[in-house]
Amino acid sequence: MRCFSALLLSAFVFSAPGFAQEAADAVAPETATQGQVKALTEEVIAALEAKLDGVPVTSENWMVAAANPLAVEAGAKVLRAGGSAADAMVAVQVVLGLVEPQSSGLGGGAFLVWYDAATGRMTTLDGRETAPQAAKPRLFQDEQGEPLKFFDAVVGGLSVGTPGTPALLEEAHRRWGRSSWPGLFADGIRLADEGFLVSPRLASLVENDAERLSRFPETAAYFLPGGELLQQGQRLTNPAYANTLRVLASDGAAGFYGGEIAADIVRTVRNAPGNPGVLSGIDLALYQVIEREPVCAEYRAYEVCGMGPPSSGALTVGQILGMLNNYDLAAMGAESAEAWRLIGDASRLAFADRGRYMADSDFVPMPTKGLVDPDYLAQRAALLNTEAALAEIAPGQPEFDHALNWADDVSLEFPSTSHISIVDSYGNVLSMTTTIENGFGSRLMTNGFLLNNELTDFSFKTHSDGVPIANRLEPGKRPRSSMSPTIVMQDGAPVLAIGSPGGSRIIGYVAKSIIAWADWDMDVQQALSLPHLVNRFGTYDVEAGTAAEGFTDALVLQGFEVSPRDLTSGLHAIEIGEGLSGGADPRREGIALGE
Ligand code: DON
Repeated sequence: MRCFSALLLSAFVFSAPGFAQEAADAVAPETATQGQVKALTEEVIAALEAKLDGVPVTSENWMVAAANPLAVEAGAKVLRAGGSAADAMVAVQVVLGLVEPQSSGLGGGAFLVWYDAATGRMTTLDGRETAPQAAKPRLFQDEQGEPLKFFDAVVGGLSVGTPGTPALLEEAHRRWGRSSWPGLFADGIRLADEGFLVSPRLASLVENDAERLSRFPETAAYFLPGGELLQQGQRLTNPAYANTLRVLASDGAAGFYGGEIAADIVRTVRNAPGNPGVLSGIDLALYQVIEREPVCAEYRAYEVCGMGPPSSGALTVGQILGMLNNYDLAAMGAESAEAWRLIGDASRLAFADRGRYMADSDFVPMPTKGLVDPDYLAQRAALLNTEAALAEIAPGQPEFDHALNWADDVSLEFPSTSHISIVDSYGNVLSMTTTIENGFGSRLMTNGFLLNNELTDFSFKTHSDGVPIANRLEPGKRPRSSMSPTIVMQDGAPVLAIGSPGGSRIIGYVAKSIIAWADWDMDVQQALSLPHLVNRFGTYDVEAGTAAEGFTDALVLQGFEVSPRDLTSGLHAIEIGEGLSGGADPRREGIALGE
C-alpha cells in the first residue's frame, strides 16, 4: 500500500491513451488531509488509491459511491448488513448533511431514480423544494422591476423553498426500505456528537465564503467558531444536528415538517436580517414528494433514463445524446476535435430548448415527449452536419399540442450539490442528486443544518418582451433543475448509475461521461476522470490545467469562443455488468466502496 503522503501528493495517473493520459497527470484530486488519515480505514485508503490510480473499484454484491468517505462508509455498513439501496441512501444523506454541509442536507431537496429489481420497473421521486404559497412571481425583482443581483437574492430568507429531502428519505424508505428506520441515523448521530474531521474542501469553501457565512449568528458560530475559520483536520461536532437526527429517527419526517424544527425553520427564514422570506408553517405541513414518470432517450444500444420536469436533466442529457446518436463518435474517438464540435453544438441546441420549454410541468404545459422524440432530434442533429461551430442557435419546434410558446429564460445556477449512486445486493439501483443549491445555500442555519436557496433556480424575470417565461416563479411551483440522476438501461436491465453536481454544467458532465463509457470504451473511472469540455450557451469551457486545453486552437478555428476554467464536477458512477465497477470523481473527495 502506498504511504499516506504519496496518496496525498501523487499525480492522478490515468490509463486511457493520449489526451486523457496527459490530462490525468494534471488533475489535482481533492483528497484526505493529514489529520484525516488516522480516521481512514484500510478499505477507504484502498478506494482513494484506486481513484488516484484511475482504476475502478470492483465488487460482487453491492456498491456505494458518494462524495465523502464517512458518508460512503455509513452506506456500506447498511448494505453489508443486508439493507437496501434506499436504506443505504438515508444513511449516506444524513452523514453528507454533516460532513459536506455546503452541498446538501435536510434543508434542501433531491431527485431520486430507482430501478426495482423485483419488478423490473423504474420510478423517479421528486423531492424538489417548492415555492411558498405567499411567494410572488416578482420575488427576485427590485421596486423598479429589475432582477436582483444573484447574491442579493441568494443570501437570507427570500430564496428558501420548502425543503424536500427529509420527506424524500422517508418516502424512499417506506417504499423500498428493509432496515429499521431509526438505525439508519446511528452513524450521523454518532459523528455529529463525537465530531468529524473537517475536510480540505469544506475548509477552503468556508474560507472563500467567510463574509457571507458571518452574516447570521447561528451560521457564523458553526463555520467561524470564535470568529476563526474552520481548519482542515479540525474535529467539529454538531450537537444541534445530532438532536435533529434523533427527532427524525423517532418521529419520522413529521418531526421535521411540524413541531419545533418546523417552527424554527419558519422563524429563521422570516426573521433573516435584511432579507426576510415568506416561507410558512403551512408550506412545510403541505410538502409532498411526487412520483413522476422517468424520461428516457435512446442512445446507441442503450436507454438513458432519468428525472423529468421539474428537472431539465434527463431531457437535456437525452437531447444531446439523441442528436449525437446520428453521428459516429466511436469512430472519431476522444481525441477528435470534430467529436467535440458535435458534442458542443448538440449541447448548445439542447440548451436552447431547455431555456425555452423546460420548467415544472405541473404549472406550465411542456412538450416533454416531443423534446426527446428521435425524429425531432434527427432534424436538430441535421443542423450539425457542417464543419464549423453553429453561428446561431435557436430553440426548435418539438411536437407540442399546446399553442403557447414561452420566452427564453435567464435563470442562473452556481456550484454546490452532491450525487449518490448505489447498487444493493438484491440488484436494486439508486441514482440520486441532492442539493441545497449554492455552496452553503441561503447561509441560514437552524437546528444544525443549512437552509437551501433553491428558489433562485427560478427565472428572476417573469416575462421577456411581454411573453411569459416557463420557469418563472409561481406559488407552490418547483424551480427548474439541471440535476441529472441517471440510470442507463440495456435490454431492459440497468447497466450504469451516474450523476453529478455542477449547476447547469451537470448536464454536460453526465453526457460526456456516458459518451466516454459507451462510445470510447472507457471504464467507469476513466469516463469520470476524462477532462471536461462543456458548452451550454456558446462559450466552450475547457478544464483548466488539463489536456482539454489542448483543443483550444482547434475549437477556435471551428469558430468557438473558448474559456479555460476549473470544472469541479462530482461524478459518482457504478457500472453493473458481471460484477459491479465503481468510480468517484478525482475533482472532489468521494470514493466508491463495495463488497
Ligand atoms: O437544481 C439545480 O440544478 C441546481 N440547484 C444544482 C446546483 C448545483 O449543482 C451546484 N453545483 N455544483
